[in-house]
Amino acid sequence: MAEHTPVLLEETMNALRPERGGVFVDATLGLGGHTLEMIARAEEAKQPIRIIGIDQDPYALEFAEERLGEKIEYLQGNFAELFQLRKKKIITAADGILMDIGVSSYQIDTPERGFSFMKNGPLDMRMDPDGTVSAATIVNTWPEHRIIEMLLSYGEERLAKKIAHAIVERRKKQRFTETADLAAVIIEQYHPTARHKKPHPATRSFQALRIAVNRELDSLVEGMDQALELLSTGGVLAIITFHSLEDRIVKQRFRAASDSGEYELLSKKPVVASRTEEVANPRSRSAKLRAIRHLPKP
Ligand SMILES: C[S@@+](CC[C@H](N)C(=O)[O-])C[C@H]1O[C@@H](n2cnc3c(N)ncnc32)[C@H](O)[C@@H]1O
Repeated sequence: MAEHTPVLLEETMNALRPERGGVFVDATLGLGGHTLEMIARAEEAKQPIRIIGIDQDPYALEFAEERLGEKIEYLQGNFAELFQLRKKKIITAADGILMDIGVSSYQIDTPERGFSFMKNGPLDMRMDPDGTVSAATIVNTWPEHRIIEMLLSYGEERLAKKIAHAIVERRKKQRFTETADLAAVIIEQYHPTARHKKPHPATRSFQALRIAVNRELDSLVEGMDQALELLSTGGVLAIITFHSLEDRIVKQRFRAASDSGEYELLSKKPVVASRTEEVANPRSRSAKLRAIRHLPKP
């Protein structure tokens, strides 16, 4: 199993304060790194804690269950349907909710999932294997203008037009089925001197595809609204993002919530990784944590 180091661990615990005990929802369980720490802190403080771990990826849940066993409850699903927790009477409110969004290292490191341009695999990228749209669907069927728009808005790829055109020309002759194949077409659009630069030229396009396949921004908007509603008085919602678009969405929603007077921002600026964490875990470099607390009624 891939090693996964939870990002902003200390900072997330400072926001969520699991040592209070209570009902917590880890809406992006992944390999359970943050949840493991929540359990440890509650145990140390001798406070009972109940954690519901959600992930849309059933393989993530399997891995997490191997680590955490019966210490938590597991649910496969999208956090855009968080209200189901209340509807199905699993919980009435949550004292803490965590969303550590985006892709996990084990998903990237498993070539068969199709997230990686470094290791060849099927062009998939679905976190939920039952999802109807895969990366192959997008590159083989979407009209050119939609591919351009996706590459620009989700990947900030300045060669969006050139890449989209090359994709459309190539699929007329042969459909895309593998990640290496698509990566090769993307690299060819770069000037030869830029092809070996870091980050890898396919990084932005693959990120854009992943966000589109999993409708990540829509889920974030929907999930965040429901999470805010589910918080108990004093409950905290903590969100870790890895992309400026996502952070902007969280920032604006949290600002509107705090303007309503019902919630309090735990910090005005996002919390970012320390230099030490950045060196130890390069993935943390783009991570931003924002947290908000549900205030008692005056
Ligand atoms: C960055 S990892 C989480 C890592 C976790 N905090 C840990 O410490 O191991 C993100 C996980 O969230 C899941 N995920 C992303 N978007 C989701 C969504 N909308 N609903 C449910 N799970 C989601 C992914 O499948 C992935 O396993």
